Amino acid sequence: MVVHRSCPGYGDEPFAALVADYPGAEAYPAGDFRIEWGPVFHRGRLDGSARVLVIGQDPATHEAISRRVLVGEAGQRVQGLLARLGITHSYVMLNVYLYSVFGQSAGYRHVKDPAIVAYRHRWFDAVLLDSGVTAVIALGTLAKRAFGVWEDSSPERSGRAEGIHLAAIRHPTYAEGSARASGQPLEDTTAAQLADWSGHLPALAAAVLPEVTPNPKPYGESWAEQDLVGIPEQDLPPGAPAWWRAVDAWAVRDGADAQEKRSTIRVTVPKGARSWPTL
Ligand code: URA
Repeated sequence: MVVHRSCPGYGDEPFAALVADYPGAEAYPAGDFRIEWGPVFHRGRLDGSARVLVIGQDPATHEAISRRVLVGEAGQRVQGLLARLGITHSYVMLNVYLYSVFGQSAGYRHVKDPAIVAYRHRWFDAVLLDSGVTAVIALGTLAKRAFGVWEDSSPERSGRAEGIHLAAIRHPTYAEGSARASGQPLEDTTAAQLADWSGHLPALAAAVLPEVTPNPKPYGESWAEQDLVGIPEQDLPPGAPAWWRAVDAWAVRDGADAQEKRSTIRVTVPKGARSWPTL
């Protein structure tokens, strides 16, 4: 018998209350957020065993389907970074936004909206106050800003933040976004991103108690196969197919125009996971 592990969900407080009264369109305007795909809350441990908090930006296609944050390529790059630190399971991940941002400028516009901030702070409090987290990895500018807003918002929070190492690193898909925006070659932006991640590794490794032997060696100039690590089974909801956790991309926005594209995520079983008999 195969025994499967899965994410136990949000049964315990304060998480039960957090998923019962999440904000909707009154806080997240539908012109700027894809609220039609629902909120995506977290990935990882909510039982107090997390040693690292990763703050991402907003859920994308793989996250909309799997209902956990940082599951697609960005998540697998982060999983690889955690592996370098010797962290295999003792982490928790949240995003700045519950819903997928529609256009990057919307992301910048809403990072300090009071209703969005108030709810995000309840999550940050839940995983940071009175917890064993010793390091926060903020992915990109918005995540860094969100942590800073939390830190500055009360003496209790700033006191807690003093005991936490903050690694504000480039977002895991910075290289792609930056190459698109600037016209620089992807190889150059990738090398810059990996140099940034490598530069943060020594201080991060010193701030985190590893679960297994760490390997904080610097990255090369391009992604190597072992730099991406699949998502652990216990991070996804019960019954999630194994290919949701694999490195192959399986979900893309699809459509002839902007309306259709916003309405459609095409999910495809990757070739390597097609185990059915073919005629
Ligand atoms: N997926 C997420 O959940 N967050 C990110 O920041 C990127 C992709």
